[in-house]
Amino acid sequence: MRFYLTTPIYYVNAEPHLGHAYTTILADAAARAHRLAGEDVLFLTGTDEHGQKIERSARKAGIEPRTFVDGIAARFRDLFTDLHISNDDFIRTTEARHRRAVEAIWRASRDRGDLYTATYQGWYCTTDELYVPETQLLEGRKCPTCGGAVEWLEETNYKFRLSKYQEPLREHYRAHPDFVVPTARYNEVLAFIERGLDDLSVSRTSFTWGIPVPDDPAHVVYVWFDALTNYMTAVGYGDTTPEAAARFAHYWPADVHLIGKEIVRQHAVYWPAFLMSAGLPLPRQIVSHGWWTMDGAKMSKSLGNVVRPAPYVAAYGLDAFRYFVLREMVLGADAAFTDDAFHTRYTADLANDLGNLLSRTATMIGRYCAGVVPAPTYRDSADDHLETEARMVIDEAIDASRAFEFSRALTAVWRLVGETNRFLVAREPWRLAKDPAARARLESTLYRAADALRIVSQLIEPAMPDAAAKMRATLGVPLESWVSLAPATLVAGSKVADPDPLFPRKDLPVSDETPAAPVPAPAPVAPTDASKEVAPAPAPVAAPAPVSPIAGERIAIDDFMKIDLRVARVLAAERVPKSKKLVKLSVDLGFEQRTLVAGIAEAYEPEALVGRTVVIVANLKPATLMGIESNGMVLAGSPDGGKPTLVGFDSDVPPGTRVR
Ligand code: ME8
Repeated sequence: MRFYLTTPIYYVNAEPHLGHAYTTILADAAARAHRLAGEDVLFLTGTDEHGQKIERSARKAGIEPRTFVDGIAARFRDLFTDLHISNDDFIRTTEARHRRAVEAIWRASRDRGDLYTATYQGWYCTTDELYVPETQLLEGRKCPTCGGAVEWLEETNYKFRLSKYQEPLREHYRAHPDFVVPTARYNEVLAFIERGLDDLSVSRTSFTWGIPVPDDPAHVVYVWFDALTNYMTAVGYGDTTPEAAARFAHYWPADVHLIGKEIVRQHAVYWPAFLMSAGLPLPRQIVSHGWWTMDGAKMSKSLGNVVRPAPYVAAYGLDAFRYFVLREMVLGADAAFTDDAFHTRYTADLANDLGNLLSRTATMIGRYCAGVVPAPTYRDSADDHLETEARMVIDEAIDASRAFEFSRALTAVWRLVGETNRFLVAREPWRLAKDPAARARLESTLYRAADALRIVSQLIEPAMPDAAAKMRATLGVPLESWVSLAPATLVAGSKVADPDPLFPRKDLPVSDETPAAPVPAPAPVAPTDASKEVAPAPAPVAAPAPVSPIAGERIAIDDFMKIDLRVARVLAAERVPKSKKLVKLSVDLGFEQRTLVAGIAEAYEPEALVGRTVVIVANLKPATLMGIESNGMVLAGSPDGGKPTLVGFDSDVPPGTRVR
């Protein structure tokens, strides 16, 4: 099966930033997933190099547009190389092959009678290359999309009969309910079409940096008409050789155009209408993702609030960066990029959960099995459970990855990581190793852990190709096709290497060269009615309405999820000398042991704590209390004036389990 996937082609009027990197990484991961699923993938990205905006930027820089676009296009290419993007082609709209394609589609549409000239006047936004109806202007004559100034333009343009395609588009939407995903975007576009479509201006005479209109070179082709055609240029449209025709027949229509949500209208209304006019089949699907935001606003060059990938890649490694953006953004929704969120994910998911699992498993196979994967000769319900979980994770991760839903795919993979960690904690192979009679159980336990890690390494291949390869090198296993990926197929006898740390621990979040201003914590806000009544009164007032002690803004679930609460078992406990309240605890988290200090000595004797299950905040920065470094905080309820009572469970929960 063939799979032709495109990203938007990026404007070269600005340096690439996280937004561009994200779309391209997401497309790259999906392209890799479809290749692993055995498909014939063609993955295209590139640069959009024409238009007034770019002409002006070049003039401002005092250079020719051609030199200007060459410089920035190279920056995009370099970034994509640094991000290990596996694109099969990189298209530039200033290439000769593209001009040919634009001329061909223009002629096809003109011959269909869909292009005519008309004089037009109106407010024009050069940032978005769009006329803005007077009624939609913001105060001060600002563009409603980008907030920039608009200018009055009067010109004779070619217009495209978009109105003629209203019904055909509507029919297409009705017949293809998955034409645009997510569904919210589909509904928006359909509603837009149903409100009625006006003809669209598709040429300009106010500047020259563009593709001349065939047979009327006083005009240049509108930048969107030009840009959208790139998707066909790359597969041979406009090229009359038989090889190009065969290539076009093979790859067109595209399977997916992946885009950001602000350019859905151009892709989901204009582009299909242009194609219908030219008598060509429509792309199968338009997948739209949300925005990376900073302090609540879309990250964009015009707002100056951009993150560049390079400092994060330098501090944490490329795969950690790819993991973070793919895991953090749910397809279609916006996501905030913060240093803390990045650091927390790195530490919790990569260094702790996955990194530790690999190094523990490989170390134990080294120590107890001479570095060779043992054969599984023992099985009980825990082995069955892990295998069933692995099977479900494989299905879900493959399905989600092919649908661009990497947050879902990676969440599923980490479920397997968590299950495997719990499996090891419950089986305690370090204890089995001391008992010769438990040899079969020990070997099966390590086999299952290595087998799960093999599966993880295959499933994270699209998101983190380098880490996946490193994992496979440690486990001594090859890259596998997803078509036959299944649990319990690890070949016993393969050689496991000494593990290199996959994701070494990092102390502090990266601080960008241009750190964003810290956002001050919101002042505690009392319920508004009460404060209104109370504030101005100088004299005694009636007792104010009870004020909620829950101060400040409510937090989003994502903020809560940053707090890593874990179940731990107390291994040892002793009073901290010279302190009435503090007790020093050693706890087992399943995947590691830690020391922490808790203020519960007045309520609990140390001996009574040993063996107890507690809940700790596992990702707190270490703090030193009475000279002892505390790595976490034990949760307890402390009523006013009363003694603390530890948080507990009403049935057994193994150490390491996340609490939420
Ligand atoms: O629109 N969050 O190019 P462009 C997420 N040339 N993604 C973002 C983003 C953000 N804050 N900012 C940008 C164009 N993007 C046209 C496209 S296609 C025929 C022509 C990503 O350089 C997102 O994918 O402005 C968006 O669609 C794309 O960059 C826009 O890039």
